[in-house]
Amino acid sequence: MVLQLCFLVQLGQTEAKVSAVIVFGDSSVDAGNNDYIHTIGRSNFPPYGRDFYGGKATGRFCNGRLSTDFISEAFGLKPVIPAYLDPAYTIKDFATGVTFASAGTGLDNVTSDLVSVIPFWKEMEYFKEYKRNLTKFMGACKTDELLREALYILSIGTNDFLENYYQVPIRSSHYTVDQYENFLLDLMKNFVLDIYKLGARKIALTSFTAFGCLPLVRTTNLFQGRACREDYNKVARELNVKLNTLIINLNKELKGIQVVYSGVYDTLMNAIQKPSSYGFEDVADGCCGTGLFETAFLCNKWEKKTCKDANKYIFWDSIHYSEKMNKVVSDHAMKNAFAPFL
Ligand SMILES: *[C@@H]1O[C@H](CO)[C@@H](O)[C@H](O)[C@H]1NC(C)=O
Ligand SMILES: *[C@@H]1O[C@H](CO)[C@@H](O)[C@H](O)[C@H]1NC(C)=O
Repeated sequence: MVLQLCFLVQLGQTEAKVSAVIVFGDSSVDAGNNDYIHTIGRSNFPPYGRDFYGGKATGRFCNGRLSTDFISEAFGLKPVIPAYLDPAYTIKDFATGVTFASAGTGLDNVTSDLVSVIPFWKEMEYFKEYKRNLTKFMGACKTDELLREALYILSIGTNDFLENYYQVPIRSSHYTVDQYENFLLDLMKNFVLDIYKLGARKIALTSFTAFGCLPLVRTTNLFQGRACREDYNKVARELNVKLNTLIINLNKELKGIQVVYSGVYDTLMNAIQKPSSYGFEDVADGCCGTGLFETAFLCNKWEKKTCKDANKYIFWDSIHYSEKMNKVVSDHAMKNAFAPFL
C-alpha cells in the first residue's frame, strides 16, 4: 500500500521543477545556523536584515535575502530557505528547503577550526540526520523521491583561502597554491559522492567568485589604490577551470547525476565593470560602516556611516553581497546554470 501511494505521487509530479532546495556552504548561503553555535561569526543583529521581512536580522550576512532564497522562490518554493538549526522550524518546513551552511566555514577542516564554526563534514552529518527525520515524517519511499528531485546547491571555498591559506602557515607551509586547490577540489568531489550515495541527483556547484575584489581584500591593497588583487582573482580562475573539469568527470562517472556549474565570477566582474546597468553606484565598498573592513560584529547599529540605500552597492558589508547583488546572481543562475532543472 505504501509503495503504491508513492508510485502515484511520482506519476502525479511533472519532470520539471525541483521538490526542494537543499543548501551547503558558508556565509554566502547561511540563513542563521551560526546563531545556535558559539562563534563570533554571526550577524543576527542590526543593521543586518534591515531590508529583510520585518527588518529581521536572521543571521544572514546581508541586508535582505540571499541568492539561494531568490532561487527557491524562482522554483516556486518558499521565498526564504530556513536554517537547519533554527528551532522555529520543523521537519515539515525543511521538507521543501533547508540550509546547513555555516558562515566562516570551508571545505578544509582547518578553516572551520580557525573560527569555531560548523565544519563541512558536520554539514553532511546534519544532512544524514535530516534524511532520517524525513523518513520518519513521510516514509522511505517519499523521502527517496524528494531527495532525488531536490536541487542541491554548494557554495563554499573562499574562506579556505581568505581565512586560512593566506592568513596562517598551517596549510600554506605544506601546500603550494596549486596543490591546495587540488586538495580542496578533492574534498568537494568526495562531498558530492557522499550526497549522491544518499540520493542526490541534481547538484549545482557554485564557482569561486572574484574574491580579489571583495572590499576587505581591496583594503589590504592600499598602496595600489585599493584595486582588486589580481593574484587572488587568478587563484579563483584556476579553481574554476579545475571545478569545470571535476563537473565533467562527475557527470561521466555517476549514473543519473546532473551536476551543473553555477558561475559567479563573471557576474561579479560584469557588475564591477558596468555598475550602472544594474543601478549600482559603488562597486568597491560595503554599505555597512566605512565599507572598508566592517563585517560581523564590526558591522553594527553604532556605525553611523552605514549607507542609506544598499541597492546602490554591490556589497552590503566588506565581504558579502547586498540583497540587490544576490538577486543579480540568482537571476543569472536561473537563466543559465539552472535552466536544465526548470
Ligand atoms: C531530527 O532528529 C534529531 C535526532 O533525532 C533531533 O534532535 C532533531 O530535533 C530533529 N530535527 C527536526 C527538524 O525534526
Ligand atoms: C575532517 O574531520 C573529520 C572529523 O574529525 C574527519 O572524519 C575527516 O577525515 C577530516 N577531513 C580531512 C580532510 O582531514
